[in-house]
Amino acid sequence: MASGNGSNFEAIVQAVQSGRLGADIPLLVVNNKNCGAHQRADRFGIHVEVVDHRDFPNREALDRQLVGLFQSHRVDVVVMAGWMRIVTDVLVNAFPEQLVNIHPSLLPSFRGLDAVGQALHAGVSISGCTVHIVTADLDAGPILSQAAVPVLSSDNHASLAERVQKQEHILLPATLQQNAHRWRQG
Ligand code: GRF
Repeated sequence: MASGNGSNFEAIVQAVQSGRLGADIPLLVVNNKNCGAHQRADRFGIHVEVVDHRDFPNREALDRQLVGLFQSHRVDVVVMAGWMRIVTDVLVNAFPEQLVNIHPSLLPSFRGLDAVGQALHAGVSISGCTVHIVTADLDAGPILSQAAVPVLSSDNHASLAERVQKQEHILLPATLQQNAHRWRQG
């Protein structure tokens, strides 16, 4: 699942293609048609479903549509690779322990929006990214892995975000591979 640029989605695809991640990617779901992630999936020939949150009366209705899609594709694990919507119990309960998110901070610090900005504002000297299981509490589920990066006094939002993202692109595919045994059926 992705909403924007899709660099983490592409990192997963590259890991699959290079044999570092043993997985099939049956579909990408985007909520913003033609976002960067959508375009990347087209380039790789990966099936895309556009599920636009603006077409649904509430978050639960959106998540019911997602659950139906993922069940019809018989997925073992769902990855929120920059999915910028709050998910509900509908999705979490349909995929208990099978819903994974990447967040651009060392959780439990800086949950929610603009974690990079929050880290800069707080003046921390180390930040990073976290891969975690999604629960009903925002950015608070069990942590699977983390990577740390220094925050330099010369950093601005763009430079810190770029340093964090470089680590995300390594951490997310590696974490999926390390935890694959949790999700494989049968
Ligand atoms: C990443 O920084 C991720 O941590 C956050 O959203 C961003 C998505 O970036 N959840 P991209 O679309 O994968 O480039």
